[in-house]
Amino acid sequence: MLKGRTAIITGSGRGIGKAIAMKLASYGANIVINDIPSSEDADKTCEEIKALGVDSIVVKGDVRKKEDVERLISETMDKFGKIDIFVNNAGITRDGLMIRMSEEDWDLVMDINLKGAFNCIKAVARPMMKQRSGAIINIASIVGVMGNPGQANYVASKAGLIGLTKTTAKEFASRGIRCNAVAPGFIRSAMTDVLSDDVKQKYFDSIPLGKFGETENIADVVAFLASDMSKYVTGQVINVDGGLVM
Ligand SMILES: NC(=O)c1ccc[n+]([C@@H]2O[C@H](COP(=O)([O-])OP(=O)(O)OC[C@H]3O[C@@H](n4cnc5c(N)ncnc54)[C@H](O)[C@@H]3O)[C@@H](O)[C@H]2O)c1
Repeated sequence: MLKGRTAIITGSGRGIGKAIAMKLASYGANIVINDIPSSEDADKTCEEIKALGVDSIVVKGDVRKKEDVERLISETMDKFGKIDIFVNNAGITRDGLMIRMSEEDWDLVMDINLKGAFNCIKAVARPMMKQRSGAIINIASIVGVMGNPGQANYVASKAGLIGLTKTTAKEFASRGIRCNAVAPGFIRSAMTDVLSDDVKQKYFDSIPLGKFGETENIADVVAFLASDMSKYVTGQVINVDGGLVM
């Protein structure tokens, strides 16, 4: 389905990003793993991907930094000569009630989750516009649609990412570039492992399908949005949440 395509996934050393990288590789795409400079996971993931029979490189860098993002794009172009798929997955949380939230925690989350995606879309748009094709997929969150107490910074960043998705879709559609978002619900990963049992139970009780999501559930939908099977789909937000938001 994706044989010979080139995909970059930010923050793909572990968690949802890694699952996306493995899934796209299983459909034949060559993979560029990006994660923070200190990530050891990124190198391990790259080896696991090569074992699937596709080519893979690691380009470490911080999505907040324009020069790191430029290097991510240029090293990918040097190696593969094109970029077909770009997944904005890197993201963090710094939770706390708004009244106590520090300016630093607000800025950090906005910088990584939203400005990071802006930096990446701007940089990847150039080669994609030249190719007159490309699929950009942004990993948002259902809380960006419904709000969530204790996550003002994170919710604002994900709501912003949804707006950015729609604007990107409108600005680049005429160049053959599609842009969609996936909004995960509660997915079992390092990000959700740290939540209290109380919070986990509350989520669990509101999931109609009666189970937490797995990273692979997100990867399946990203693979669809990355492929020609979704060639008439752009500007959409697909909730992958066991029915939590309807
Ligand atoms: N787990 C969930 O339930 C859930 C729900 C909704 C949305 N999401 C979103 O899915 C994405 C992945 O989350 P996850 O659960 O796999 O979390 P995770 O913490 O396991 O993975 C995030 C990855 O991003 C990397 N990263 C962080 N800052 C970065 C930066 N500045 N530059 C490059 N890479 C950076 C981390 O090193 C890590 O490898 C995030 O955008 C998150 O907001 C997760």
